Amino acid sequence: MNLSTTYLGLRLRSPFIVGASPFCENVGAARQLQDAGAGAIVMRSLFEEQIDAEEKALIHHMETPADSNPEATSYFPQFAEYQLSPDRYLRQLEELKRALSIPVIGSLNGARPGGWTDYARRFESAGADAIELNLYQLITDAEMAGDEVEADMVETVRQVAASVRIPVSVKISPFHTSPAHFASMLEYAGAAGIVLFNRFYQPDFNIEEMEASPQLALSDRSELLLRLRWLAILSPQLRGSLAATGGVHTTSDVVKAILAGAHTVQLVSVLLRHGPRFITTLANGLREWLVEHGYENIDQLRGAMSHRRCPDPAAFERANYIRILQTWKI
Ligand SMILES: Cc1cc2nc3c(=O)[nH]c(=O)nc-3n(C[C@H](O)[C@H](O)[C@H](O)COP(=O)(O)O)c2cc1C
Repeated sequence: MNLSTTYLGLRLRSPFIVGASPFCENVGAARQLQDAGAGAIVMRSLFEEQIDAEEKALIHHMETPADSNPEATSYFPQFAEYQLSPDRYLRQLEELKRALSIPVIGSLNGARPGGWTDYARRFESAGADAIELNLYQLITDAEMAGDEVEADMVETVRQVAASVRIPVSVKISPFHTSPAHFASMLEYAGAAGIVLFNRFYQPDFNIEEMEASPQLALSDRSELLLRLRWLAILSPQLRGSLAATGGVHTTSDVVKAILAGAHTVQLVSVLLRHGPRFITTLANGLREWLVEHGYENIDQLRGAMSHRRCPDPAAFERANYIRILQTWKI
């Protein structure tokens, strides 16, 4: 059974993409993921702040600019804390390309337009098959309107996509007033695909130390539901590719994401828990499911449960919301 799929115009042998994570720091681990059946891998992100800081440091010989806010900048990791410096990142990308036959996707993480987007070109020169641009941002400023934020994001995507010939996908958060409109603006700006969704790592409160304590908890399956809903809503409305990231842990999660309209699923938590070989388990499970249900390939399955056949998706969503609240009886 052929599990191949097309994502960002790239032909992948399977829909299993290893999502942005530390896996690619180690070429041996990346090879194991390929051997287990991964269709592509995404490197961990290179951050706008990291590139900007390095460039400023070069220009100002490590002097702190007069107008900077030392408290705010001290929140950010120092150079040595980033796992890969920008130069090291590019060398790692080249090494991965030499070692692997599956596509390698570089990840840039930033939401504001700026000189750092030049790095897209460097990714391309280093051999990246595509770029995943992560727009992670949490807006806390009451003066900042949503449309300004989105305009910056769209401009960033336009700059990155315009600077390279390789495809650019965009990893977004679910917290936009009109995610479908925003996603179509991203496509208009040059995005070849959308990755749904960023996870927000909510810090807990330490009530003894009176401090917020950041924590990285791996995902669980309940997180997939938000992705399924938006894949089902977006897939009939977008021309490009869709990837699900967040909460894909079992074969049935993979089937559901494809039914909702995903071209690929990204895996991180499940592989950190069970190891690279788990991709083979998921691939075998997917093949069995397809055979049992009479499908010849995953293209036949894609979008079968999307909103394509729903004439008024907003009314459908609202009706479901109202109905579900009525089911609880005391
Ligand atoms: C240890 C770790 C490191 C990660 N690093 C990145 C990163 O650099 N860039 C990024 O876009 N996402 C990063 N992610 C998020 C994952 O790519 C993925 O979107 C998220 O974990 C949800 O998928 P999952 O449910 O399969 O874990 C990271 C996740 C983990 C657990």
